[in-house]
Amino acid sequence: MSVVRNLTELGQDSYGRPGLMHMTIAGAVHHGMKEMEVWMQTFAPNSGTPIHRHECEEVFITLKGHGTLYLSRSRELDAPGEPEEFQIYPNATFTIPVDSVHQVRNTNQGEDLQVVVTISRPPMKSFIYKEWSTPHAEAVYEPREWDKEDKLSSASQQCKEPEAEDDVMADIAKLLGRSIEDIVVSDEIR
Ligand SMILES: *[C@@H]1O[C@H](CO)[C@@H](O)[C@H](O)[C@H]1NC(C)=O
Repeated sequence: MSVVRNLTELGQDSYGRPGLMHMTIAGAVHHGMKEMEVWMQTFAPNSGTPIHRHECEEVFITLKGHGTLYLSRSRELDAPGEPEEFQIYPNATFTIPVDSVHQVRNTNQGEDLQVVVTISRPPMKSFIYKEWSTPHAEAVYEPREWDKEDKLSSASQQCKEPEAEDDVMADIAKLLGRSIEDIVVSDEIR
């Protein structure tokens, strides 16, 4: 894996969640991160995270778009109850304390909401709440490796590397308006 990587070349996946594009920038499974994991997530209008809690710390940075952070007021009760609402906007940053029930949603119709997320102690072990009134004891454990997809793409990357080079040659050929054979042959002659 290269030291410097281009975000636009990293894999993204919805992980089965409508409106979500998730990218693991540095993760526990694929990148061997032990203490933290860094993601980029893009939420289409009307999509967002489930209502959930986890034992890890979480830091958000909003790159673009607007939305709403819903955060439980207290952990003293049996259920999260009516959350506090905070508007989020480009350059907004916020942290989610350990075990705080929260949800981030794109509540702006016109544009995507894009955030960088850092979590401690990966992989994240989330407990999902159906409603804000769902008792803590009934939140459903969701074990999920958020960089599983990256692991797959890296496993196949090793045997596919020459193909990636061919792709570059094809791009160059296209740019020059010539065939790829032309370019590859003249490269060998040189
Ligand atoms: C975000 O903050 C940085 C640092 O102050 C600033 O350079 C940048 O222009 C800001 N971006 C937006 C969209 O406000």
